[in-house]
Amino acid sequence: MEPLKIALLGGGTVGSAFYRLVQERQEDLAALGFAPRFLGVLVRERGKPRPLPEELLRTEPFDLLEADVVVEALGGVEVPLGLVLPALKAGIPLITANKALLAEAWEGLRPFAEEGLIYHEASVMAGTPALSFLETLRGSELVELHGILNGTTLYILQEMEKGRIYGEALAEAQRLGYAEADPTLDVAGIDAAHKLTLLARLLVDPGFPFAQVETRGIQGLTPKALKEAGARGERVRLLASLYGEEGRWRARVAPVRLPQEHPLARAQGNALWVRSVPLGEVLVAGPGAGGGATASGLFADLLRFLSGAPGHLPASGKKAPPSEGTPFPEVE
Ligand code: NAP
Ligand code: HSE
Repeated sequence: MEPLKIALLGGGTVGSAFYRLVQERQEDLAALGFAPRFLGVLVRERGKPRPLPEELLRTEPFDLLEADVVVEALGGVEVPLGLVLPALKAGIPLITANKALLAEAWEGLRPFAEEGLIYHEASVMAGTPALSFLETLRGSELVELHGILNGTTLYILQEMEKGRIYGEALAEAQRLGYAEADPTLDVAGIDAAHKLTLLARLLVDPGFPFAQVETRGIQGLTPKALKEAGARGERVRLLASLYGEEGRWRARVAPVRLPQEHPLARAQGNALWVRSVPLGEVLVAGPGAGGGATASGLFADLLRFLSGAPGHLPASGKKAPPSEGTPFPEVE
């Protein structure tokens, strides 16, 4: 049996769930010939209650160069970037759930992604396939893509539709482990914009800039607006869209009005709906946030790495945008 040395950065909602899943799936790893061993788990506070062995906790960065693979679930941009870059430079693969890191620090990370060293299925829609789904869609030409990519805002809107107030629904989303450490990233649409940037880089432009995503969140939405939409046979969702407009790719995150019969309006979880040629319309939907759901995406990437497959490669070049797309109307 070959030892598999894992350096885990982050022991919060996602990091703890990943640690647990690796313990539960030891047999699957053994069947591939690997015995996992955690070198350490980086956290900020040693004293916080968490389901991790005390002896693995590290409050100071430890030597990642000893690892076979680095798994990052810290959040933020500068701190994780400073930690993972030396490991990547040494050729050690990175599995990450951190879409902010990838979206905002792309200049430094892109060469390693192009080398196949970065695996990040969990960064978009957690364990529900989004990146591998789009990898298969590379067989067709993208016409337009629309996704409900943020679990916190979806939960808030679903709860508000049942009559709950915004603040209460957000607090519950935080308790459930869906929200970012700073939930402004969720409610202001920034998290969805990070994820849309990653999808655009995978499919249409390997250098797609995060700053190009027009972003509006759900903070201004009232129960009245949701009720009025319902009365018109519509549902309000925070939608991330990528489509052609005036000869360029337009990327937008905004609360929109969806017809109730549209597959995106009917989805109970996160969802990604894509129209491409010659394939046609396809939808993938499922849980997009939470510890277990995200650990599943990280573990899938661990298996992908162990199978010898490269990480998620960006698009090989810029793809020309199609003729005008058909975006959904924004909520006023
Ligand atoms: P979290 O519960 O806040 O956990 C973050 C962990 O990182 C904590 O253990 C924290 O330590 C540690 N940490 C943060 N900054 C640190 C620093 N400067 N030095 C040392 N340790 C530090 O967050 P999470 O929900 O697990 O999310 C982690 C990452 O996964 C984020 O990038 C997030 O966007 C992404 N993600 C989350 C979900 C989800 O549903 N939660 C889904 C997909 C992707 P302490 O515990 O001591 O505070
Ligand atoms: N805060 C994110 C969300 C976590 O609510 O979707 C999953 O990426």
